[in-house]
Amino acid sequence: MRIGVLTGGGDAPGLNAAIRAVARRAFQYGYQVCGIQNGWLGLIEDQVTEFTRYSVSGIMHTGGTILGATRTNVFAIPDGVQKVLNTIKARSLDAVVVIGGLDTLGIAQRLYEEHDAPLVGIPKTIDNNVPGTDQCLGFDSAVATIAEALDKLHTTASAHSRAIVVEVMGREAGWLATVSGLAGGADFIVIPEVPTTISEICEHLQRRAQAGKHHSIIVVAEGARLPDLPSTLEPGPPDSFGRPRMDLRGIGEAVAQGIEKCAHFEARFVVVGHLQRGGSPTVFDRVLATRMGVRAVDLIREGRFGQMTALHGNKIEPVPLSVLKAGVRQVDLDLYRLAQVFF
Ligand code: F6P
Repeated sequence: MRIGVLTGGGDAPGLNAAIRAVARRAFQYGYQVCGIQNGWLGLIEDQVTEFTRYSVSGIMHTGGTILGATRTNVFAIPDGVQKVLNTIKARSLDAVVVIGGLDTLGIAQRLYEEHDAPLVGIPKTIDNNVPGTDQCLGFDSAVATIAEALDKLHTTASAHSRAIVVEVMGREAGWLATVSGLAGGADFIVIPEVPTTISEICEHLQRRAQAGKHHSIIVVAEGARLPDLPSTLEPGPPDSFGRPRMDLRGIGEAVAQGIEKCAHFEARFVVVGHLQRGGSPTVFDRVLATRMGVRAVDLIREGRFGQMTALHGNKIEPVPLSVLKAGVRQVDLDLYRLAQVFF
């Protein structure tokens, strides 16, 4: 048996731990393992290298991905699908483990359904927006990074009696903002799922000031929309999956300016940016990556293709890749309401 493994989409802490788990489980069964470079692009351009045990040693705790990652839409590239299928055949791959978010796994789902490609998925994205799983690989680590930033920002905001707006990632879902805001004691959280206005934020900050709280931390998801902000906050041009660059909107800065104008508070903004995607995975993500990687190889051994490893409660279970058709998994509003208790 020969297994390939690839990582696609935006990187996330825990990818190397997952690659290691896939390889080590496969070696345990006596299988051969190939690393596919740069996501789906590696199967289009035949960028494939043979793994030995040493290829994956000492990488569990490292950030990034030893395989590289790209956002490659196989279906938008001329002959893309055929090239992928050709490489799988030419490299004698009996199966490929696809580690990715909505877009990368979406390609796997279509290749499996339309071309019977022998694929198994592992959901990873700091955005945590893949349906069918309680949590995606990398999310916990990104939340830890933001929460640490919030701890630090609380002290400087308090010293200067300021409002500090913290922009975090999350294009269509506010998981990062909600959970990090909960963990880091945010005084207001703005997410795409819950309509909010600048005036609402300002009234809240003024109420806090009247109650003697002269500083506030406001966490804003990059994809949030506030109707009373300038309509110039447009994202950049879309990529081949139709997803625009949200960092170009500058929502954090716009919210800080809005607060200065309407609440007459001195305000600053911080964009946590790609720090959220970097660094060593948390213990939770290392264990999740290991459990999912091992399970993915076990699914291949059982011949159960077209599945994705999912966290359900404390169990890792297979779910069909067709679950991705549900689209973006949005924030559980009960969780948001829990965070609101502390605003
Ligand atoms: O992986 C998803 C994501 O983290 C989004 O939240 C964010 O908008 C995007 O990646 C940024 O990606 P890039 O690396 O292309 O700037």
